[in-house]
Order: sequence, then structure tokens, then C-alpha cells
Amino acid sequence: MGQRSLSREYQIGDLLDVRFHILTFGCQMNVADSDWLTRSLVARGWMPAAEEEAQVFVVTTCSVREKPEQKVYSLLGRLKEYADRNPEVFAAVGGCVAQQVGEEFWRRFPFVRLIFGTDGTGMVPQTLERLALDAGLRVSLLDFLDHYPEREPAGSGNVGAQAFVNIMQGCDNFCAYCIVPFTRGRQKSRTADAVVAECESLVRRGARELTLLGQNVNSYGQDRRGDGTTFAGLLHRVAAVPGLLRLKFTTSHPKDIAPEVIEAFRTLSNLSPQLHLPAQSGADSILAAMGRKYTRERYMGIVRDLRAACPHIALSTDIIVGFPGETVRDFEETLSLLEEVRFISAFSFKYSDRPGVRAEKMDFKVPEEEKARRLEVLQEVQNRITAEDLLAQVGRRALVLVEGPSRMQDGRGAFWRGRDEGGRIVNFPHSGTGLTGKMAEVVILGAKKHSLTGEMRGAAW
Ligand code: 5AD
Ligand code: SF4
Repeated sequence: MGQRSLSREYQIGDLLDVRFHILTFGCQMNVADSDWLTRSLVARGWMPAAEEEAQVFVVTTCSVREKPEQKVYSLLGRLKEYADRNPEVFAAVGGCVAQQVGEEFWRRFPFVRLIFGTDGTGMVPQTLERLALDAGLRVSLLDFLDHYPEREPAGSGNVGAQAFVNIMQGCDNFCAYCIVPFTRGRQKSRTADAVVAECESLVRRGARELTLLGQNVNSYGQDRRGDGTTFAGLLHRVAAVPGLLRLKFTTSHPKDIAPEVIEAFRTLSNLSPQLHLPAQSGADSILAAMGRKYTRERYMGIVRDLRAACPHIALSTDIIVGFPGETVRDFEETLSLLEEVRFISAFSFKYSDRPGVRAEKMDFKVPEEEKARRLEVLQEVQNRITAEDLLAQVGRRALVLVEGPSRMQDGRGAFWRGRDEGGRIVNFPHSGTGLTGKMAEVVILGAKKHSLTGEMRGAAW
């Protein structure tokens, strides 16, 4: 810890109205952390502001692939010019890049005065207050903890219809390509009581859809700090929260998905029929080299069991192309996996070397142009499958949780945008206001490349 004591006593009243701006890169866990930070700073009297009006910047970073990391450097380069013109401006950098690069940020960007890792997020609001009062102070919160650091409840007012709830931090899997276990540390589960209490509070304050978050939710509770509750047990407890309409979770490692979790898709009526199940590759040799600990056959077995429990479950996935040693034949096996499973969507990435991971030292790296070619071919295949899935929805009555006004227009007036039970985007016209957060029954009438269109029936509720 690079922390030193405060040079003077301060009063909270000194600090009201500090304008802050949060920039978020990366996964949903970072989005959830940024949401919590926003609520916690607002509860302290600080005000969210546009970039050109802010005094304090918080950047949550991601280092899972090379490209997101570059984005952080170019962003800090841009903020530096602004900070040079406005000396009261300072920044906090958190998340995976911060954990990795550490105090080096201070040397390159002197206006960065707080560096925090994921385990330090809970202490950021009070640390920012101290930094705002003492211009000479710099703080680093990079220590890993051996337990899930509970955070103060952020605010007591109403919340939006959709909310995220962290159930764990870190990962123990060490997949050969992945930097996460190094930047987020070992897996630490939150207690089931703490998770359920937060879910109850969010639903009481207006949330209708909750997404449970963790790097590998299927191994929830299986670490030293777990209280014995399994992930399936947690799902049952959260699904029983009165008033919760939709329950989702992400991300799942296929090797850890328990039969009881699959069964939950049959038995829990508010568990959304959708699952993000990263396959990464369709070739056994590549799965083994990645250290994923499942075969294609095992993956397909899980898919069959899920569809037996919940026939219309919408499956999505992550794929890496061009992992070291991936042959054209291996790649074709990944294409055939997409055809066999028929995911509704797939996030696909070119393999990118990350410092210190096992794959970095592997031979037979695939050339950049070949990775780009494979990615393009794969995305073409998936786009077709996605389009076919969307077309198959036409004529169906979908339940749509409205997320807000849509950018779409066609002369019929305002459009609204939401998601169906499987997470597909649905746009529909409606002249009413205040539909955000409501549930609407929508007859699907058309399919676009990445979304559906329809018409609302009856009143939203
Ligand atoms: N290169 C490319 N993609 C990666 N991912 C994780 N690490 C790498 C890497 N080194 C992808 C995986 C993971 C998703 C979040 O990012 O597909 O599921
Ligand atoms: Fe990374 Fe594998 Fe852990 Fe996912 S399960 S965070 S890919 S190490």
C-alpha cells in the first residue's frame, strides 16, 4: 500500500458538489463496479458530470485482450491535456490494467492519483474524498484480499428496473490465454446471506430484473470463503425474492455447471431462459491446450441437457480464433460447433498474447492476417445463424422488459427498446411515455440483422 496519513482533518461538508465522470471499459463486472461507485459518490453529495465539466475522473479498465488496454492509454493521453489546463483535475484508475501496471501509471500520468484493483473498489469513495482535500496525496489500493470485501450499501433511493449483483470476485481456473486470475486474484465468494439481502433491497427499491455476476458463477461457494451454499442453492434463494420478475447470471464455465443448475431452468419460473456459456473452441486439442478441462462432447452434452430442461433456452458464447497451434481443421471444428449448437449470438476474438499467461510462451503462433481471416469467416457464419434465429421469432408473442426509448423511427412516432426472454433486442412503437422498466407483451412482426421489431398488445405493467 502506498498510503500515507492525511495532512489535515477534513469535514465531509467541504466536499459536496464535486463533479465526477466515470469511464468504464470491459466486462459487466466493471459496469457493475462503476454503477456502485456512481451511487456511492452521489450518496456523498458528489455530482455526475460531463467529461468537459468534471474535476475527478474514475476509469475502470480491462486487460483481457490487447486492444482494450490500448484504449486506456489513449484515453489517459487525452485526459492529460485537460488535466494540464485544469490543475484541480485528478483521476483514479482501477480494474485489471491498474492491477497489472500499478504505480507505473503515476510516472506516465502524474494527474492519476489513485490506483485501485478490484479488491480495493469498496474503499474508492472515501479515498477520493481524501484526495480531493489533499492535493499532495497519492494512494494505491492494489492488495489482494483473501475474502470478498463487502462494500457499504450505496444509497437507499429508487433503482432502475435492471440491476447487477456481484456474487464473487476472482477466478481459480488459469485458462492458458487468460490474465484474469492474475489481475482479479483467487476466487472469493460472497456469503449467500449478503447476496440475498442485496437482492431483496434492490427489488424493494424497484429492480425487476437481477443479473448475478462473477467470473465463474458455477463454482460459487466452492472456495475457502464459501458458506456451503452452492450456486444452484443461491439461484433458488434469489429466485424466491418477492417481486423479482427476471433472474439472470453470467459467466458460466462449462466444466463447473452442476445438474442442479441445469434443472433450475426447468423449475424456476423467473429464471430467464438464456445462458452465456463460453465454448472458446470446438476442437478437443485446442480445448486441452487452453486448459478448459472439457471436451466438445461434454460441451454438447450440457447443451442437450439444457435444451431438455428448457427447450427454448437462448444460448450465447465466446470464441477465440487463432489460439497458438490452431490448425485450419481445428478452426473448422469451431465453425461446425456454431452450426451444431446454433447460438443466438457469439462474441468472437482473435487470440491476443497477454503478459505472463501460459499461452504467451506456446509455439506455433497463428499469424495476424490468418487470425483476422478466421475471425471474419466465423463472424459471417454466426451472423447468418443469428439472423435465422431472429427470423424464427416472427409471429411469436414475446415478453419484453423495456430498457428505454429506442433510436428507431419509421413515421409512427416514438419507439421503445427492450429485451425478450432470451435477451434479444426488441423495438416497438408506442406513443405512451414512461415505459422504461415496464414489462410489455409484444407480437414480433419483423427481424433485422441484430434485433426484432413488433407491436405491443394490451397495457404494459
Ligand atoms: N485473447 C483473446 N481473447 C481472450 N479472451 C480472454 N483472454 C483472451 C485472450 N488472451 C476472451 C475469452 C473470454 C472473453 C471474456 O474474452 O473468449 O471468454
Ligand atoms: Fe479467464 Fe478461464 Fe477464469 Fe474465465 S474461467 S476468467 S477465461 S481463467
